[in-house]
Amino acid sequence: MPAFDVAAIRAQFPILSREVHGKPLVYLDNAATAHKPLAVLDASRRYYEEINANIHRGTHHLSQLATIAHEEARLTVARHLNSPTPDEIIFTSGTTDSINLVASILGRAGRLKPGDEILLSHLEHHSNIVPWQMLCERSGATLHVIPVHDDGTLDLPAFHRLLTERTRVLALTHISNAFGTVNPVRELVAAAKQVGALTLLDGAQAAPHLPIDVQDLDVDFYAFSGHKVYAPTGIGVLYGRYKILDSLPPWRGGGEMIKKVSFSGTTYNNLPFRYEAGTPNIEGAIGLAAALDWINRIGLDALHQHEQSLIRQAAAALSALDGLRLYGPSDRAASLSFNIDGIHHYDLGTLLDQMGIAVRTGHHCCQPLMERFGVTGTIRASFAAYNTTDEVIQLAAAVKKAAAMLR
Ligand code: ALA
Repeated sequence: MPAFDVAAIRAQFPILSREVHGKPLVYLDNAATAHKPLAVLDASRRYYEEINANIHRGTHHLSQLATIAHEEARLTVARHLNSPTPDEIIFTSGTTDSINLVASILGRAGRLKPGDEILLSHLEHHSNIVPWQMLCERSGATLHVIPVHDDGTLDLPAFHRLLTERTRVLALTHISNAFGTVNPVRELVAAAKQVGALTLLDGAQAAPHLPIDVQDLDVDFYAFSGHKVYAPTGIGVLYGRYKILDSLPPWRGGGEMIKKVSFSGTTYNNLPFRYEAGTPNIEGAIGLAAALDWINRIGLDALHQHEQSLIRQAAAALSALDGLRLYGPSDRAASLSFNIDGIHHYDLGTLLDQMGIAVRTGHHCCQPLMERFGVTGTIRASFAAYNTTDEVIQLAAAVKKAAAMLR
């Protein structure tokens, strides 16, 4: 078998053999969500066919099997992130949920006060902006924004100017979902630690493409979503450094997150359960573990090389088209954003869809970034393990044809 056998990979994704508008599907919207391999579909199905019980709640056999499977999934995630202990892995519904969790408990704990600052960047997705704005409203802290250069990379001298002893939190995307910029997060996290700030990385777009080592990054919080790493929707992860998470109050109240409840007061559970009120997404956690095992069987390095090769081919092919503008740096990862002069991104995306090509158009939940670049949106092609050079050629040909129709 070749080092990276894309045909063998494609054969594991039943959805890739379907047609859209009578054309073979070319799926290039992986930054929004990735498709699921048989290994994940089978794991979910097996869970419902053979186990399906609530966890940590029953003495009966199926409940015990479900509990074991759920906690083994947590161990798989911990190993994948090189987290020292599974107690630092909180299952959430996705990256948005993970970031809201952190911002909310910092607020509840009264960790921020007027005069404190939260630093994020112009590249952020709304889900790494709005929870911090809500924390600012509650605490009197203020938001500060690292600007970006015209090539979509962070202005690092500005970062160092904005980072002061008033900075209490640095919250940064690892890879931009809109432009594919890969931020030098290790260096930025290290600088933030020097001033005593807490650090959070939004790994929604990095986790599907890069090995993540939370100890090497030395980050306090790392968030990602299952559905972008070939796992089901509705499952996500928050890694949180034990000492910090353990010092913070609970978020949602309910079953599982308690040790003892009485009408005179409640004591809370240990990590990680303190942050997992209610019945969790058991099937999602099991599917996520299956997805991470699947990715690791391929190897993230091989996968990343394959995707980087496709993204470079796509950038070269599209650059040759009249009036085409690419966004982001040339060493972008995962996503390729572009516009064509005089053509609305939505119109182009609609025509591509008619040709069977799925891309995302619009602001990509990054309105401040779009405003910075003077556009209402872009067309974004984003890549996964199962994409091929032939699909890149089809994309470029379809964009050329659609642009000619719209001019
Ligand atoms: N955050 C996802 C995207 O960028 C939905 O498309």
